[in-house]
Amino acid sequence: MKLRIQKYNPQVDAAPYYVEGEVAFREGITALDAVYLFHTEIEPVNFDYACGGRICGRCGAMVDGEPKLMCFALLDDSTHTLEPLKGFDVIRDLVVDKSEFDRRIAEADVRIMLEPVTEETAAPADFNADEHEANYDLMMYLERCARCGLCTVKCPALQLNKENYVGAAEMIQIAFKDMDWYDKGDRIAQAVGSGLYRCIRCGVCDEVCTQQVPHLKIWAYLRAKAEARGLVPSYAV
Ligand code: SF4
Ligand code: SF4
Ligand code: FES
Repeated sequence: MKLRIQKYNPQVDAAPYYVEGEVAFREGITALDAVYLFHTEIEPVNFDYACGGRICGRCGAMVDGEPKLMCFALLDDSTHTLEPLKGFDVIRDLVVDKSEFDRRIAEADVRIMLEPVTEETAAPADFNADEHEANYDLMMYLERCARCGLCTVKCPALQLNKENYVGAAEMIQIAFKDMDWYDKGDRIAQAVGSGLYRCIRCGVCDEVCTQQVPHLKIWAYLRAKAEARGLVPSYAV
């Protein structure tokens, strides 16, 4: 099988360029396996990974033009092009700078607590078992987010309105905190202020997400709560 890999060192190269070479095909080979073979047998390439099993979210790249986790992208015995994840600055070759994306997620992920949890306060006073049960499945999916950033690449809301929309990965962290009984932040107001109604609910993020995070269901959950409180902005779509 043939690989075309984009290389670029912003410190020395005037522009990105491609290197090509053939590596041995086998059934079940992933883009990550293939780039590793290329790196060890043909020419060194900078790429990032840790888990090899769609958990760490570090191996996101454009595989034949589509945002994918390389460790989860099966390749056939033809020619494949690997490029850095679109929308992020390239650090080197396939490694991109996700520090701003990570910072925004970390910011949304901070639990706001009014008092420390002790044995006596382990069950929050406002805990509602029925509501918890109803949201349980959604919550399990939210927890699976690998923070890979694939959902940012083709999001029309981000492309059209980057200033006013935080992004899908950040929004699901906000939803996760809303379902957290210990968190006392007003996450619905935060979601609306972060552009919940800028999202056009196209479902592209559902399609690219290898963790099967059900974005559209989460947007519906947040919108229903915003509507119940009369927080729908005038520009809502
Ligand atoms: S929601 Fe899915 S695509 Fe987006 S960062 Fe999380 S795992 Fe990646
Ligand atoms: S559903 Fe919303 S967040 Fe997802 S890709 Fe479309 S506009 Fe972006
Ligand atoms: S190597 Fe961890 S998600 Fe691909």
